[in-house]
Amino acid sequence: MADNFYQETTEAPETPFDLSLRPPGFEEFHGQEKVKERLMLMVEAARQRQDVLEHILLSGPPGLGKTTLANIIAAAAGSSIHTTSGPQIEKAGNLAGILTNLQKGDVLFIDEIHRLHPAIEEYLYPAMEDYRLDIIIDSGPSARSIQLNLPKFTLVGATTRAGMLTSPLRSRFGLVNRLDYYDTEELSVIILRSASLLEISIDEGGAREIASRSRGTPRVANNLLRWVRDYAQVRADGAITSETAVKALAMIEIDEDGLDEMDKRILETMIYKFNGGPVGVSSLAVAVGEDPSSIEEVNEPFLIMQGFLTRTPRGRVAMPSAYAKIGAPLPKGAQGELL
Ligand SMILES: Nc1ncnc2c1ncn2[C@@H]1O[C@H](COP(=O)(O)OP(=O)(O)OP(=O)(O)O)[C@@H](O)[C@H]1O
Ligand SMILES: [Mg+2]
Repeated sequence: MADNFYQETTEAPETPFDLSLRPPGFEEFHGQEKVKERLMLMVEAARQRQDVLEHILLSGPPGLGKTTLANIIAAAAGSSIHTTSGPQIEKAGNLAGILTNLQKGDVLFIDEIHRLHPAIEEYLYPAMEDYRLDIIIDSGPSARSIQLNLPKFTLVGATTRAGMLTSPLRSRFGLVNRLDYYDTEELSVIILRSASLLEISIDEGGAREIASRSRGTPRVANNLLRWVRDYAQVRADGAITSETAVKALAMIEIDEDGLDEMDKRILETMIYKFNGGPVGVSSLAVAVGEDPSSIEEVNEPFLIMQGFLTRTPRGRVAMPSAYAKIGAPLPKGAQGELL
C-alpha cells in the first residue's frame, strides 16, 4: 500500500535534464554556504556518534535546492531516502504505511510539508519525538488506541512557506534551514557546471549574463541555459557568449533584472489599477490572472527582495523602483515614497 506514496512528489516529474544536473553531494552543491556547513556538521556528528540524524527542515522559495539537499543529506548519511509530499498523505493509514516501512536510519523526505492535513500532523508529532505511532482503530465505544514502535528515522521536511507551518510541527525539527536566493557569482558557477555536464560551450561572460537574469534561482538558471543553448545553436555558432545570451533572453522577454512578463504585469497592475497599492494578494491575483499561491511563492518574494514591492499589514505596495521599472511617473505622496 505504502509504495504508492514513494513517488517523486506531486510536482510534474522531473525531466532527465533536471536529474542529470542535480548535484549528488555537498562538494558539488554550490552556494548556501551556511546551511551547507551546518548540515555537513550534523551529518558528521551523527556519524561519529553512530547515531541517527536529527530531523531537518528546509525552507525557501521554489527551485533553490531543497529537494536536492534532502537527497544529498541522505546520501551523505549513507541512508536510504523515501520521498512523499504533504498533499499525498491523505489518511492516517497512508502515514502509518510509510512510517512502518522505514528501516533504522532511513530518511523520510516530506515535500510541501506545510500542506499536511492537520489531523495527519498530530500523528506525526509522537512519531518524530518518540518514534512511536498511536493509531486509533475502530470507532465509538469499541475504539481503542494501539501503539507501534518505529525505528529511529530522520524526517527531512521541505516547505516554500515556513510561515504556514504550525508551531508544534516547527518546534519538532532540530534545525530549521532557510535557503536564500543565490548571488550572480554563485549562479555563474552553477551554470558553468551545468554547461559542462551538458557539453555546452559557454564563456564566463555568457554565464554571468544568464546568471544575472536567473532571479537568484538555480532552477531558473538551468532553464535559461537550456533556452540560450537552443538559441545559440540555431542563430549563432553554438557557443554561448554574453552577446548571444542577451539576444536569446530578449527573445523570451526576460529583462536585465530577470523579471519576466508576469512580474512586469504584476507591477503594472499594482501601479495602474491599484494606484500603487496597498492591495491584497487575492485581488492582485484576479487582476493579473494568476494563482494567488503562485504569486505569493514565486513572484512576490523575488520582487520584494529586489526592492520593487513591499508588504505592509494592509497589503502589497509598489516601491519607487517599480515605477521606474515600468516607466510610470511616481505620483506625489505615493505610498512607496512614504515608507
Ligand atoms: N546549489 C546548487 N547547485 C547546483 N544546482 C542546483 C543547486 N540548487 C539547485 N540546483 C538545481 O536546481 C534544480 C532545482 O532544485 P530543487 O529541485 O532541489 O529545488 P527545490 O527547492 O526543491 O524546489 P521546489 O520548491 O520547487 O520543490 C535542481 O534540478 C538542481 O539541478
Ligand atoms: Mg523540491
